[in-house]
Amino acid sequence: MNALFKPWSNTLARLSLAAVALGAVGTLGGMMLYVRSPLFTQVGDPIEQPVQFDHRHHVAEVGIDCRYCHTQVEKAASAGYPPTAICMNCHEQIWNKSPKLAPVREAFFSNTPIQWEKVYKLPHYVFFNHSIHVAKGVGCATCHGRVDTMAAVEKYSSLTMGWCLECHRNPENYLRPKEEVFNLKWESPKTKDAAVKELMSHGIAKDAADAQQKLALNSDPKIAFGLALKDVNGVHTRQSCSTCHR
Ligand code: HEC
Ligand code: HEC
Ligand code: HEC
Ligand code: HEC
Ligand code: HEC
Repeated sequence: MNALFKPWSNTLARLSLAAVALGAVGTLGGMMLYVRSPLFTQVGDPIEQPVQFDHRHHVAEVGIDCRYCHTQVEKAASAGYPPTAICMNCHEQIWNKSPKLAPVREAFFSNTPIQWEKVYKLPHYVFFNHSIHVAKGVGCATCHGRVDTMAAVEKYSSLTMGWCLECHRNPENYLRPKEEVFNLKWESPKTKDAAVKELMSHGIAKDAADAQQKLALNSDPKIAFGLALKDVNGVHTRQSCSTCHR
């Protein structure tokens, strides 16, 4: 019995109490981390869809433009999902016996839209608008990643307020020429020479001297390029609460 109550057992009891207290803090901290972790924000989780639609086939292999299906993305707040009739433009002729397309044929002939599950979803109190992002030179891939390499669309960005604000504060780090918004493969120029060429090929600079001048604002070619685009695309930093909460 004696052995159980050695002097250090008190210390042990205190230590274990401390551990419980720390554990509680740990749990809270853990919860705070959890809401910002991929587990909670569901980044990277594929979502079960009523049809196994694959952007790899349609975008990368067949080469269909985003706007053929997401017709509203340049004009409206919402990018939207394609009406079944758009699928049937092709699938009335090709793969028209495929069992994978049975729900598409069913939806088409019964005139009931396919119920796609949303991968990206903001809380109702957040205002978002695709068209302004497209118009100011923010690429689909910047927010949605390389959907042309995903078997099923996975969430690529967290959609937290901090994520929105990081770009709203420093848009120059994320902008691209407007013509490249739908080009998922586009990457920012990594050298000054590449930035000069890119500005000229997009008609943003008249000649090399003009391009050099536009790139003079920063020594990092990527940021200098972004600053030049910020200027030519007329991009403002938008951080006031009422931009997104109205
Ligand atoms: C042939 C039609 C078609 C084309 C072309 C197409 N998409 Fe889609 N897209 C869909 C359909 C159908 C869905 C819904 C099913 C799914 O999530 O895969 C979808 C879903 C998405 C989603 C997930 C939206 C959400 O929250 O549910 C994103 C992001 C997306 N598309 C981006 C793009 C981009 C970027 C391009 C161009 C590079 C593109 N799509 C081209 C048909 C198309
Ligand atoms: C411009 C033509 C075109 C349009 C529009 C189109 N598809 Fe396709 N789709 C194809 C082609 C081509 C294939 C075969 C691709 C391959 O296997 O490489 C295909 C394959 C598929 C498959 C796989 C079929 C199988 O048995 O493997 C599904 C599912 C599918 N498409 C769904 C859709 C849906 C849903 C839409 C509308 C949102 C749509 N497609 C719009 C051309 C199109
Ligand atoms: C600045 C980031 C951003 C850019 C750029 C962007 N999206 Fe989105 N997208 C979002 C957000 C956020 C949502 C969720 C909107 C909501 O729930 O209200 C979304 C939703 C979608 C959806 C689901 C349907 C809908 O409208 O809610 C599709 C499809 C989509 N985006 C396609 C595209 C395409 C195609 C492009 C390129 C032209 C694009 N997006 C560019 C952030 C972006
Ligand atoms: C990668 C960059 C980027 C990200 C990420 C981004 N935005 Fe933006 N956003 C912009 C740019 C650029 C503008 C245009 C600013 C201007 O010039 O007025 C803009 C403008 C807006 C506007 C103004 C629309 C209007 O009609 O005045 C709203 C609202 C908005 N963003 C909401 C959001 C929300 C909500 C998120 C996060 C879910 C988000 N944005 C994420 C770059 C981004
Ligand atoms: C660029 C867009 C944008 C701006 C500007 C913005 N918010 Fe948000 N806000 C969001 C988004 C997206 C969410 C939802 C995701 C999240 O909770 O992180 C959100 C969530 C919130 C929430 C919900 C609680 C939480 O943190 O989850 C509060 C409160 C809030 N915002 C307050 C503000 C205030 C106050 C300002 C101005 C100082 C502001 N927001 C500016 C996009 C924005």
